[in-house]
Amino acid sequence: MTEPRTLYLTTPIYYVNDVPHVGHAYTTIAADVVTRARRLAGHDAFLLTGTDEHGQNIERIAREKGIPEQRHCDLISGQFRDLWASLDIRYDDFIRTTEDRHRRGALHLWSKLREATAPDGRPAIYRGKYSGWYCSRCEGFKDEEELKQPGNLCPDHELPCDWTEEENFFFRLSAYAEWLRDEIESGRIRIDPVGRRNEVLSVVRGGLQDFSLSRARVKWGIPIPEQPDHVLYVWVDALSNYITALGFADDAPAFRRYWAGAGERFHLIGKDIIRFHCLYWPALLKAAGVPVPTRFFAQGWITKNGRKLSKTTGNVIDPVKLVKDYGPDAVRYFLLREGVYGQDWDFTDSAFVTRFNADLANDLGNLVSRALTMARNYCEGKVPPTAGLPPAGAVGREALLQTDAALGNPAGARQGVLDRYEQLDFAAALGEIWSWVSQLNQRIVQQAPWEMAKDPKRREDLEAFLYRLLEAIRISAVLVGPVMPRAAARILGMLGREAGEPARDDLEWGKLEPGRALGAIEPLFPRLDKAGAGAAPVAPSPKKEKPVSEPSSPEPVVPPVIAGSSTAPAAVPAAGPADKIDIADFGKVELRVAQVLEAEKIPGSKKLLKLQVDLGDEKRQIVAGIADSYAPEALAGRKVVIVANLKPAKLMGVESNGMVLAATHEGKAVLLSVEGESAPGSKVR
Ligand code: MSP
Repeated sequence: MTEPRTLYLTTPIYYVNDVPHVGHAYTTIAADVVTRARRLAGHDAFLLTGTDEHGQNIERIAREKGIPEQRHCDLISGQFRDLWASLDIRYDDFIRTTEDRHRRGALHLWSKLREATAPDGRPAIYRGKYSGWYCSRCEGFKDEEELKQPGNLCPDHELPCDWTEEENFFFRLSAYAEWLRDEIESGRIRIDPVGRRNEVLSVVRGGLQDFSLSRARVKWGIPIPEQPDHVLYVWVDALSNYITALGFADDAPAFRRYWAGAGERFHLIGKDIIRFHCLYWPALLKAAGVPVPTRFFAQGWITKNGRKLSKTTGNVIDPVKLVKDYGPDAVRYFLLREGVYGQDWDFTDSAFVTRFNADLANDLGNLVSRALTMARNYCEGKVPPTAGLPPAGAVGREALLQTDAALGNPAGARQGVLDRYEQLDFAAALGEIWSWVSQLNQRIVQQAPWEMAKDPKRREDLEAFLYRLLEAIRISAVLVGPVMPRAAARILGMLGREAGEPARDDLEWGKLEPGRALGAIEPLFPRLDKAGAGAAPVAPSPKKEKPVSEPSSPEPVVPPVIAGSSTAPAAVPAAGPADKIDIADFGKVELRVAQVLEAEKIPGSKKLLKLQVDLGDEKRQIVAGIADSYAPEALAGRKVVIVANLKPAKLMGVESNGMVLAATHEGKAVLLSVEGESAPGSKVR
């Protein structure tokens, strides 16, 4: 028995006319996410992608390059596969239309069509004469009214079309209009978004024209046995990839499982290729007696700075460069979070940097590093025990921890995210995860576990809180995994979980084993500075946390005001007029905003904290004498002001490269804070 929810998902196969662009990456990432999410939900799923390598354009390009067509195809198809590898796309098969398995499968489809009878009782294929305006770039005929005048220009390429006449094989699409309308209206063929479905239905209502299945003037294609000087029309050649890859020619087990027996035969497409997919392809399959697709989703268009992506105008987004600059996870996240899948949206570099810093570095990155730093410092680097947890629904500690929505058992939230993935509403799925992430961040501030840590009577509360926090982070990582598989694996590794594909039961609450050693803490998404994307990052406001005083210490006081690369004077006498400095003297001091990435106590010292800070273009270690006023966990994510150009010095044997500025109040350090937006590394004047 075939699993009823078996999913067979495909991307369009991409033309090898040119190197891959961001639109291709967009569809393929979405397809990868849907497949991973389906597997996470416990279903069988198969993802196919590939390259479309035949046709006149390839002939022309190879001729211009002076290389054989196959060589050209090999080169560009290889670039697609390289890009998919760099983006962590996990496809199950990659089909190329120049492969023999494809040629055999396409000809098998052709032979079935040759024998087919259309619903009106006439042969589905017939010989006829075709005349019309042909665009060699589109490899298709254009209706007279579509052409741009003067010059009979193709509406897409703005190049002149040729008036062409040829003897062809035709497919009787017109006879399938009623059947197509029924299938689409009934939802047996589901087309999303609904606007696209209506568009397709209105084409059907407007009357369908038969189309030709062969081409006389093209050499680089699959010759038709009855007429070897004709090749299969490029769209029939291309569409058949969806079944040839599964071994259609041989009725292979993969074909039976993932096509004939699949619960869903689902094609992801762009809005440009709807007509071929939603009308031609189901009708061809119906004629050949092969099950038809059950679902289509047409994604929207990405523009850049409000303009169409175009090589000629230089308005391009290079996916290879994006991955090189930001890593696969951030690219996958941004493309799916920024726009609504199915609608057009605009890509800007500044939005990329903003999302990277706000969502990834700040919200998610800080949550993970704060929680793990606390577990390391308070629970000896192990998953804390859960013994202190009250039974579900109990008041008391339950109320104290306010676990209901944020830290408790978020069954509804988990299903909600899976449902959003299922609907390809990626932005909403991620929005739900991020609302949870920000609730967790808020909960840390409200509960101030560093306060609990000071009171031995609150040990159980602390452990219960941290256990829940880590568990909530683990589930967030599993849920975000389809979009950011690498970050999810790293978070799970930090939580001491073994590597491996998360499965449905990883979404159950309570999988972290108390006592298990946590992994090393590593920064997930170091903040970007403006240099990264050529746009000024708009840094989110730092998380506001009130400083927490720890009990005063018997250790002799290191000047609380400042600690850093030099031992600061214990007291600085007020400067008299004669001691006033020149502005030029002040100019020698380089003050900069820094964001604390991590903070930890220095063993043997009650006063000193070792901070790792982000200075925009570099990471620094600074030792600060603020331990009597600030718990290390309260510092991650906080922005401070530092003296950046001090000579390095060692404090308690630990190297310090800079000095954190603080005022003193009643003998305690009070850090200078930074109001509003300012990126790490910004100069303070
Ligand atoms: N080879 C055909 C498809 C045959 S499928 C049987 C083809 N290839 S293509 O290389 O032109 O890729 C088209 C697909 O790339 C679109 O359908 C869409 O999924 C994606 N995109 C191309 N440009 C895009 C944008 N600017 N924005 C979003 N996606 C776009 O057509």
